[in-house]
Amino acid sequence: MNQARRLGERVSAMIDALAIISADEERLTRLYLTSEHKRAANLVGEWMRRAGLVVRMDAVGTMHGLLASAASGPLAAKRLLIGSHIDTVVDAGKYDGNLGVVVGIVAVEEMRARGISLPFEIEVLAFGDEEGVRYPKTLISSSTIAGIVEPNILELTDKEGMTLRHALAEFGGDPEHLYTEAYDRAETLGYLEVHIEQGPVLDQANEALGVVTAIASQGRYHVHVRGEAGHAGTVPMAIRHDALAGAAEAMLMIEEVGRGGTKFSLVATVGEVRVSPGAGNVIPGSVDFSLDVRAATDEARAEAVAEIRRRIRQIGLARGLVIGVETMLEKPVSVCASRLTRAIAAAIGRVEGHPPRELMSGAGHDGQAMLRLTDIGMIFVRCRAGISHSPLESVTVEDMGLAVEALVETIVELAGGKE
Ligand code: GLV
Ligand code: MN
Ligand code: MN
Repeated sequence: MNQARRLGERVSAMIDALAIISADEERLTRLYLTSEHKRAANLVGEWMRRAGLVVRMDAVGTMHGLLASAASGPLAAKRLLIGSHIDTVVDAGKYDGNLGVVVGIVAVEEMRARGISLPFEIEVLAFGDEEGVRYPKTLISSSTIAGIVEPNILELTDKEGMTLRHALAEFGGDPEHLYTEAYDRAETLGYLEVHIEQGPVLDQANEALGVVTAIASQGRYHVHVRGEAGHAGTVPMAIRHDALAGAAEAMLMIEEVGRGGTKFSLVATVGEVRVSPGAGNVIPGSVDFSLDVRAATDEARAEAVAEIRRRIRQIGLARGLVIGVETMLEKPVSVCASRLTRAIAAAIGRVEGHPPRELMSGAGHDGQAMLRLTDIGMIFVRCRAGISHSPLESVTVEDMGLAVEALVETIVELAGGKE
C-alpha cells in the first residue's frame, strides 16, 4: 500500500468513529457543549494521548494535545498550533472541522514514527465551537485562546434558554476561567489548519490540495419583522400587515443584492426563519430570520449590508411593518501570513509534484480568531463537487493521506527543512 493510502485509511477510520457521535441516530448533529460534544472530545483526547501528546481540556471545552520539543534551542519553548473544530452544523457532513483535528493528530503520530524531532513544541487543538449554531456567536473556543472573547458572553442563551455559563459548567468546563486561557503571542509560532475546501475549485481543477490566501469578510445578522397578527379568513388583504409576506419580499431583495456582487465574491444567505404565531389560519404577526453576508473585501460586505438595511426600511414603510436588523457578529477579511503560505506551498509542491492553487475561503474558520493571536496558514483539501454542510460531503482516502503528508512537510519546512 502506498504511504498516502496508508495514512488516508487511518484518517478515514478515525473520521468514521467520530461521525457516529451525534445527537440523532439518522444524521450527524454535534453542537457545542452537548453530551455528544463531550464524547467526541473524550475520544479525541484518547487519540491524542496514544499519539504521545500531553492532553488537557481548557475552560471552554477545547482539547489540547501538547508535544514537547526534545531540543534545547531558542525555539524549544515556542509552540506551533495546529487545529480545527469538532462541532458540526445540523445534519452535517463528517469532514468539516473533524478532518483538520484528525489530520493534526495523525501528522504527529507520523512524525514520531519517522523519528522527526522538532526545534519547537507542537500543540494540536480540537475546538468545540466554530459553527456558532448553538449560541449566537461563532469561534468561542478559538477566541478564548486568542484572548478576544467578548465581555458578557457567558450570559448568551441557546434556543432552550440555557446560558453559556450553565452549559459550560455542565460540560465540565470552567466559566470563571474563560478570560485567563489566552495564549502569549511571544510564545506562539503560528496556527495551521487543514480543512475541506467546501467549494468546487479543487474538484473542478482535479487537484487534491490547495493553499489558502485569506478568509472572506463575514457578517451575521438577525432580522426582526413586526406586523399584526389576525384572522386569515376575515381581515381584507388591503389592510393587512403580514410579517411573513414582508419577510419574503426582504429575502428576495437580499438574494438580488447577493447576486449583484459577483466581482467581490459577494454572497448573502437567509438560512433560518421563525414565524409567529405559526398557524395556517392566522396572519403572521412576527418573523425573525437570519442573514449571513460574506465578500472578498470588507468594503464590499459593508456596502451590501448598507444596501440591504436601506431597502429593508423601504419594505417596512411600504407594508406598515417595523423591521430591525441586529448585528450579531462582523469579522474582517483574515489574511494568511506569507511565511506560512510559502511553507505550505513548498510542502504541497513536494507532495503533489506541482505548485498548488491559491484559494480564498468563503467559509469561516477558527483562523479568523487565531489571527488575533498569531500568524495563520491553511491547507484546503478537495471535497467532491464542493458540497459541504451536508451529509453528502465526501473526501477520498487518498486525498486525506496527502493532507497528512502535506501537513508533516509544512511542519518540517517551518523547522528549517531537515527531517
Ligand atoms: C462555518 O462553517 C461558516 O462558514 O459559517
Ligand atoms: Mn469548518
Ligand atoms: Mn462548517
